[in-house]
Amino acid sequence: MKAYRASLLYFKDRQAVFEQDGLLVVGPNAQGRQVVQAIGSFQSLHSGYPGLPIEHLPGRIIAPGFVDMHVHYPQLDVIGSPADGLLPWLENYTFPEEKRFAAPEYCAQAATFFIAELLRHGVTTALTFASSHTESVNALLGQAQQRNLRMMAGKVLMDQNAPDGLRDDTEQSLIDTEALIKQWHGVDRLGYAITPRFVPTSSAAQLRGAGELAAKYPDVWIQSHVAENLDEIAWVKQLYPEARSYLSVYAQFGLLRPRAVYAHCIHLDDEDRALLRATGTAAAVSPTSNLFLGSGFFDYAAADRAGHLYGLASDVGGGTSFSPFHTMLAAYYVGRTKVEGWQTKPAVSLSPQHLWWQHTAGAAQALGLSGVVGNLLPGCEADFVILNPKATALLARKTARAGSLDELLFALIVLGDDRVIEKTVISQALPS
Ligand code: GUN
Ligand code: ZN
Repeated sequence: MKAYRASLLYFKDRQAVFEQDGLLVVGPNAQGRQVVQAIGSFQSLHSGYPGLPIEHLPGRIIAPGFVDMHVHYPQLDVIGSPADGLLPWLENYTFPEEKRFAAPEYCAQAATFFIAELLRHGVTTALTFASSHTESVNALLGQAQQRNLRMMAGKVLMDQNAPDGLRDDTEQSLIDTEALIKQWHGVDRLGYAITPRFVPTSSAAQLRGAGELAAKYPDVWIQSHVAENLDEIAWVKQLYPEARSYLSVYAQFGLLRPRAVYAHCIHLDDEDRALLRATGTAAAVSPTSNLFLGSGFFDYAAADRAGHLYGLASDVGGGTSFSPFHTMLAAYYVGRTKVEGWQTKPAVSLSPQHLWWQHTAGAAQALGLSGVVGNLLPGCEADFVILNPKATALLARKTARAGSLDELLFALIVLGDDRVIEKTVISQALPS
């Protein structure tokens, strides 16, 4: 057991709690994994733990590790590749780069770099696309296992409309997926995600097979993309002229359910949103990617009216940054923008507390991991970040003036980046 004395940020339901002088007590659970044992004010808690070693971190804030709901590790080197929209970006930059993941050594060095980058930015859990090569999954999950991370990933399924070197074989891809589920899902802190890239690159047979695996393994994740870009949507319409909507194609193959996560969800209608809600499917909101690729604006007001699950994601390499601060700021811009015809009008004002929740406890809830990660309530795995709100000269000036929690969190969201993350702490397991 060990305790940390610092300011603390965590969540009760959607509400942020801030303890100026707090105590976080961590210790092993019945399985020997470090979890939060107690959290609250130093004053109220410390006498209950006589003799417990306390690490005092004056001026620092301890907060839950960030949760990235959608990121592509083979796209590390695709960040910042300009293109005239999603489809040319995939063809000219993304697919050529992902082909390189046929080589195990290439996968291994990218996986090592990727995980180091996540941790440097305070991201402790991620739902991650690998490439279509099984070795790319082994490299990433093997590396995550060594570092004790909670990480979910999957081999991309793409058996059509894809170049040689990336395109997989329908039957073999499903055999490989099932073998990877058996190899990795539920091992230590790892999870598997069935990963059809998107409707255009999977045959009906592959989508059907993915849906069958999703039914056979109900606690495995599903990850894909939907309704990101107008050309993409027109393509799906050609492939499935009878379908009511793009999202309904996934429904038809049994790919909407709890633990299914769809990136983007921009160009949906209310019937689609009701379907997300009814099936327990989540949207991964990826604002830096949507702004960079010119895809559009996630409609927060409509999502809240429908009441479906959602949370934030970097979507590297369409996304421009690993930093949760950059993603939260981009989400704020998007919330402020409502496009109607050629005009933009102010829409919702996302509070800094709500933005932070979307990248921690809210993202965990959308992934089916409430009470496991993304928060610091008792029982949560002890993944957390130690933040320095004075990490830069400008932040020091700005946060010194903060008169409320909203002002403090806004200062961090607007001015913060990896320099604010002084340390990322990962829950360890005692040897059994
Ligand atoms: N749609 C299909 N594949 C991709 C991808 O790799 N990135 C993004 N942003 N959208 C996609
Ligand atoms: Zn993506």
